Amino acid sequence: MPPMQSANAKVKHTESAMLRDVVEGLSLEQKQLPSKYFYDTTGSRYFDEICNLEEYYPYRTELGMLPAIAKDLSHMLQEPCDIVEFGAGSLVKVRLLLQNMPQIRRFLPIDIAGDHLRSAAAELQREFPRLDIQAIEADFSQRVELPDRNSVKKLGFFPGSTIGNFSPQEAVAFLDRARQSLGEGALLLIGVDTKKSPEVLHSAYNDSLGVTKKFNRNLLAHINRETGADFDVEKFDHYAFYNPGRGRIEMHLISREQQVVTVEDYQFEFSQGENIHTENSHKYTPAEFLNLAGQAGWRGVRKWLAARQLFCVHLLQAGG
Ligand code: AVJ
Repeated sequence: MPPMQSANAKVKHTESAMLRDVVEGLSLEQKQLPSKYFYDTTGSRYFDEICNLEEYYPYRTELGMLPAIAKDLSHMLQEPCDIVEFGAGSLVKVRLLLQNMPQIRRFLPIDIAGDHLRSAAAELQREFPRLDIQAIEADFSQRVELPDRNSVKKLGFFPGSTIGNFSPQEAVAFLDRARQSLGEGALLLIGVDTKKSPEVLHSAYNDSLGVTKKFNRNLLAHINRETGADFDVEKFDHYAFYNPGRGRIEMHLISREQQVVTVEDYQFEFSQGENIHTENSHKYTPAEFLNLAGQAGWRGVRKWLAARQLFCVHLLQAGG
């Protein structure tokens, strides 16, 4: 073997977690890959593009609700508070809270796409020069330690129905961890997509411009870059559908032909038509979601339901 100068040699400590996840996921009878790996810088940009699509109703529906919600919150919350955002992305939504809630002192955005997050945070800092911003590059499907824990009241912010990427059981575990790290008396403002007509759901994940397809396939390009795998991205089709029994959108990548993919020392065979399950996006009625939150020690304080019940934003308080 020649000395390792390939992409493999660049596998960093933090990226070996990806290698493990990829090898583990592709070794399963039903191949799967974690949806958190959609979000490299390119994937985060594709996601922003998705948010601007006509068909993708969750983003703009929730965004439209946030100014009024922030005003309500500002009246409800007298004392200063810190905001901790999970999966903060491009920091568009938090601006609506910051503009309407003068009591916010500090902002702690958490995202797995570190470079993307830090450049968005630098831009936000220019707009809100007095806000204390501490960007945290982390994977919140694991425990995240907050820096400089203080006694200022914490408002967790988890918009966009990202909670839907977890299974119901993982969602309870996440909500439980979030409650513990946010501390006593914490609040959590969380956006949750609702169950609705399958046509509306279907078109949100099968857009006519094919952005969701690019987003889905970019998962393979990201894995190639970080682990030295040799996925041929063009040899996988995007497939997304609503599974009403499980109450979730499922996204898959489907092999267009028989092929072998190499990841470090491992070889994975794909038959023609074989799928990799890449994402779940669970949808919950407000009552279903409050039940999950209750299992994690949160109680519902208030909820805001969009017109035609397209989307729901819940305010939860720690303590059953
Ligand atoms: C960011 C997880 C909320 O599930 O709707 C968008 C990601 N996937 N289109 C979602 C996504 C395909 C999105 N979340």
